[in-house]
Amino acid sequence: MDFQISYSGDLRGATTLQQLYKITEADFYHIRELGKFMLPQMDQLVHTWYEWLKTQPEYEQFFSDEQILHHAQKMQRIYWQQFIEAELDERYVESRRKIGETHARIGLSMTMFFAGMSIFHELFLKSMGQRDLSLQEQMETIDAVSKLLHLDTGIV
Ligand code: HEM
Repeated sequence: MDFQISYSGDLRGATTLQQLYKITEADFYHIRELGKFMLPQMDQLVHTWYEWLKTQPEYEQFFSDEQILHHAQKMQRIYWQQFIEAELDERYVESRRKIGETHARIGLSMTMFFAGMSIFHELFLKSMGQRDLSLQEQMETIDAVSKLLHLDTGIV
């Protein structure tokens, strides 16, 4: 049987995406508050994420070149810094599209990209657990982080 796969890029803009994922100003506030706490730990968080990636076959497959590894690590730190700044505008959306294109170009599976996001989600939760928040604030923060992570992953 013949399958023809066609893809037409989804070009929704920042405002439409924000509405689609029901992201409110309160969500941005919760992400930025968590971000203030996470920023000093960012290098360590990305390092922990790469420790996870090292246990996967994709690490050897994609990072045979030391320079590519350094580039990807540096860019990933910038990625999460942008995430916790939570300024969802056209520039943000465009940067996520470019990152999606990069990973598509190198042939990384969506399974691995999603898994990577899921591991970072866990790191967000661990950071949040170190803060003194009420249960209500914790739930709101998790919800806000999840929404923006889903939006990002959807674009990528
Ligand atoms: C949480 C999920 C991930 C995020 C947020 C992320 C983020 C990024 C960013 C921001 C870049 C730079 C893109 C550019 O220069 O255009 C990049 C490059 C790269 N990423 Fe990822 N990445 C993720 C998952 C992965 C995984 C699972 C792999 C598997 C090995 C991977 C391998 C690479 C490689 C090889 C590059 C360099 C590509 C090149 O410049 O040729 N990434 N990543």
